[in-house]
Amino acid sequence: MANKKSLGKIFLLLTGILVISFSYGWAVTGKSSSGIKNDSNSGKENMSSKKGTIKLFSPSEGEKPAEKVYKNIKVFKGLPASRLIPTMRFIEAALGTNCGDCHVHDKTKGWEFDSDKKSGKKKARKMIEMMNDINKHHFMGHQEVTCFTCHHGQLNPPTVPALLKLPLKPEDRNDRDIIVANRLNTAGEIVAKYVKGIGGKEAFQKITSLKFEGTTLNEDGKEMPLTINQKAPDKILTIGQNHWGEFSRGFNGEVGWFKAGQREDEIKGDDLNLLKDAAEFYRSINIEKDYSNLRFSNVVVVDGDTAYEVKGSRSEYLSDKLYFDVNTGLLIRKIQYNQTPLGDIQVQTDYKDYKNVDGVLIPFTVHTAGYDFNQTMNFNKIAANTEIADNKFEMPTK
Ligand code: HEC
Ligand code: HEC
Repeated sequence: MANKKSLGKIFLLLTGILVISFSYGWAVTGKSSSGIKNDSNSGKENMSSKKGTIKLFSPSEGEKPAEKVYKNIKVFKGLPASRLIPTMRFIEAALGTNCGDCHVHDKTKGWEFDSDKKSGKKKARKMIEMMNDINKHHFMGHQEVTCFTCHHGQLNPPTVPALLKLPLKPEDRNDRDIIVANRLNTAGEIVAKYVKGIGGKEAFQKITSLKFEGTTLNEDGKEMPLTINQKAPDKILTIGQNHWGEFSRGFNGEVGWFKAGQREDEIKGDDLNLLKDAAEFYRSINIEKDYSNLRFSNVVVVDGDTAYEVKGSRSEYLSDKLYFDVNTGLLIRKIQYNQTPLGDIQVQTDYKDYKNVDGVLIPFTVHTAGYDFNQTMNFNKIAANTEIADNKFEMPTK
């Protein structure tokens, strides 16, 4: 396990252009039990700071049950009537929404809170029942799970853990509004345009090795030197620096290894699979072979650029979304999803500054973020077909 930890936050390169991280450890975030209290407080602040705060009831209303005071109470039967509005405010805060999202407001008649016309209200009832069920059956009746546990201040709870510090903007989806001239309609066409865009298969196959030199910039603003050697068909060697000093990582086509200071480890299991992916030299011209069920899903906006979104499965648990610029055809983003029984983990990579290296276009800036890391690789030099001896990729002998 110690090995695994030390492998965290170290990166390798996929096909000279694609990056992924080794770190799939779980980051446990501190969750305090006072969270609930704070939420309802902030709910109140929300409410009073909003324009047109609704003042509905005087406190002297008495402690009748809600169903005696309101017209259409189903789930809150027995709740002291005076608790209903604070409850509504809590919902509002937890979901980052407002009364009007669930309740009908008529221009002449005003609020019709008893109306069930809005789907949000019906959904909320179901949610309340579900939440009570969860707490009753799984938390001995304690109120451990609340609307906020899942919603975190948004109407649609995200299903994938957020990216660290999120400097990479998510895609906008408004397919219908985007007009694309000569729009392509199949993944095959989009991938073909990409391969042509980076220079074509033939030009790529003339290259048998690549040497990348540059720096990595991680989330704490530290810039460290980085060199990556790749050799066709499947060898890779990365030499970089991290907090502990210089490290190297290699794959000779069969064996993967990692070395930092005195320590040296063979890389196995899932991590080895990632390393194999990284080492596959001609991956970018063989995209279709890498995926089953490759399909075009949507036109979206990625960081200001219009792109085709293509989805594909790599294995039972791994799937990717690839984003190709509609104009240049180039791959500008990749999101990898790693499925677990509890939900997906995502790693997002952005590719920028494509430049010509011996007839093929290669991105000189690669930005990768996961839920626990965030780094940018900036290459100042990428050289093709420089001689590198095969034994450089072998695991060093101790
Ligand atoms: C996410 C949806 C949602 C939001 C947002 C919401 N409510 Fe409600 N509200 C409900 C549901 C569900 C009920 C019905 C509860 C039940 O059946 O026991 C309800 C019931 C009510 C009732 C009782 C109506 C009646 O006559 O039966 C009032 C009053 C009310 N809400 C006011 C508000 C106010 C004020 C806000 C904003 C601060 C608000 N609600 C925000 C979902 C919501
Ligand atoms: C266990 C997680 C979980 C809890 C707890 C939870 N929700 Fe949800 N809620 C979801 C998910 C996931 C969705 C989106 C999927 C869907 O709409 O079915 C959702 C959707 C909704 C929607 C519909 C949003 C839309 O876009 O129309 C409403 C309203 C809602 N929840 C209200 C609530 C309220 C109120 C509570 C607290 C009583 C609550 N939820 C608690 C998971 C949860």
